[in-house]
Amino acid sequence: MIIVDAIKMIVLFILLFYVGAWVLRYVVNPAFENKRMYNEASDFVKRCKIVFDALYNGVDAEAVSKQAQKQLKNNPDNILLYGEISFLSFADILTVVKPRAGEVFYDLGSGGGKAVFAAALIGNFSKVVGVELLPSLFQLCNDQLHKFRYLPEREKQFPARLFNIQFVNDSFFNVSLVEADIIFINATAFRGSFWNAILAKLEETKVGTRFIVTSHSLPEPHFKLMEAQRRLMSWGMNSVYIYEKVDPEAANAEKPARSAFRTP
Ligand SMILES: C[S@@+](CC[C@H](N)C(=O)[O-])C[C@H]1O[C@@H](n2cnc3c(N)ncnc32)[C@H](O)[C@@H]1O
Repeated sequence: MIIVDAIKMIVLFILLFYVGAWVLRYVVNPAFENKRMYNEASDFVKRCKIVFDALYNGVDAEAVSKQAQKQLKNNPDNILLYGEISFLSFADILTVVKPRAGEVFYDLGSGGGKAVFAAALIGNFSKVVGVELLPSLFQLCNDQLHKFRYLPEREKQFPARLFNIQFVNDSFFNVSLVEADIIFINATAFRGSFWNAILAKLEETKVGTRFIVTSHSLPEPHFKLMEAQRRLMSWGMNSVYIYEKVDPEAANAEKPARSAFRTP
């Protein structure tokens, strides 16, 4: 009897431990992190957030993605696994990347379009492009684009601003990246040979392009790490790396030759 009670207690303890850890990770920490970021956000970012929240109120892109994945039956290595940015985290990330007026932003695997709309609102881009493979998510993004055009909150906050937002329904391997100045890849689910194929694809980007990448690093010497952070995503805190593509030969030429420092 005592042993049975002890086992029950242990099971209850383990259960409570896991439930507690889950609540801490997915409810308490995100709430604190969001509050902290909101308190530190500029008035401009807060105005963008009003528009963004109204746009995504009641939109569940993850459910759309899950439904599409069920129908596909073929999701090798979980590359279609869904997750999203958090608006305030993305705003903070963009302050590191420092988009310049007129630059072009690409999101490779744009899902429900959150990063695309966040970039369009926060940055002064001449064009923001989301590339998404799943037709139902692409459709959702175009519905969002229509909603954005006539959204009362957008009209109120930014009555005179022009936005150039485009969505492409294709694999990002088929889309040219040469015009991109800033590329976002929410890449946590992209692994192995799929990730290696993405690295090969990035070879076509121009020197000076900045990259925001979750979970993966980009190879030196062609990509220079600007900052590594931990940021809130829809599934919790995650690593985010910010890189700039550099010309390794030019970078070496700028360095003084080693021999110049040698003492005889
Ligand atoms: C983790 S979600 C990111 C969504 C969005 N970028 C965000 O952070 O809010 C990754 C998306 O990439 C899409 N995807 C996966 N492989 C793709 C490919 N080859 N071409 C275009 N999209 C792809 C998936 O369907 C999914 O919607």
